[in-house]
Amino acid sequence: MTSGTVYEGGWTLDDVQWSKFDATKVEPGLLAAVKAASLVEYNAADYVTYLKRVFKDSGAGTLAALDRWGGEEVQHGRALGRWAEMADSSFYFEEAFARFRTGYKPPHFAGGSETSVRGSRRGEMIARCVVESGTSSYYSAIRDATAEPVLKEVAGRVAADEFRHYKFFFETLHKQDEPDLPVWKKLWIAAARVSESDDDELAYAYYCANVAKADETKIPYDRAQFAAAYNRTATVLYRRHHIDKLVQMVAKACGARAQSWLTALASVLLWWMLCLRASASRASVAST
Ligand SMILES: [Fe+2]
Ligand SMILES: [Fe+2]
Repeated sequence: MTSGTVYEGGWTLDDVQWSKFDATKVEPGLLAAVKAASLVEYNAADYVTYLKRVFKDSGAGTLAALDRWGGEEVQHGRALGRWAEMADSSFYFEEAFARFRTGYKPPHFAGGSETSVRGSRRGEMIARCVVESGTSSYYSAIRDATAEPVLKEVAGRVAADEFRHYKFFFETLHKQDEPDLPVWKKLWIAAARVSESDDDELAYAYYCANVAKADETKIPYDRAQFAAAYNRTATVLYRRHHIDKLVQMVAKACGARAQSWLTALASVLLWWMLCLRASASRASVAST
């Protein structure tokens, strides 16, 4: 991590110094992004149920760790939601979450399947490592971007948890008694999971969090419009070192060397892509 305190695991909402909140340092774009993130994080319970089905034969220790992981994700949602309610008195976290929950149901949670949608437990763990790489980088970027003291602390605590989650899933990946996957398959799973980041989940969370229930008829949900709105707020937060770390973590999960020319090249390409997206977003805002 680049700045500040390294937070231990096992924290609770009571450990956060909420009294340091400074309304003058709240930035509207960050607020919109945090509101959306709070809903996605708070929705972890279904994912725990799904993962416990996939890992049902993996022993009590793994199942208990999955419960702990889910509890921490839910707490991330609660902490981010509480901060957002402090920053915006018109935002009601539980109400926004209820709308999100009604409208967003990933198909692999509903099916009751006993096997991973990634084809194997190893594949499932690679996909989880990709997600935790993304969230640890994202909350590190929020922590570094904000001047608001409470958001800086909450994002720092959440980011530290996400790095620990990556470590847990990475270790679980290598404990599986399945044959190792070929590199192309690992890269395919990672790429597939990254492309899912553009799915309905983030766009719909952004909509439910930032369009009031009373305005639903006037401003109906449009996936492309709200995915673009989410990307506008998210892409500008990153700095180069967040992207380097993200790519190194994904490369390591895929069995590639974190410090290789190929990983460095992937990092440069992703950084260019984000810069292009960010400048396209700025241009579209300037022209509206
Ligand atoms: Fe989280
Ligand atoms: Fe996590």
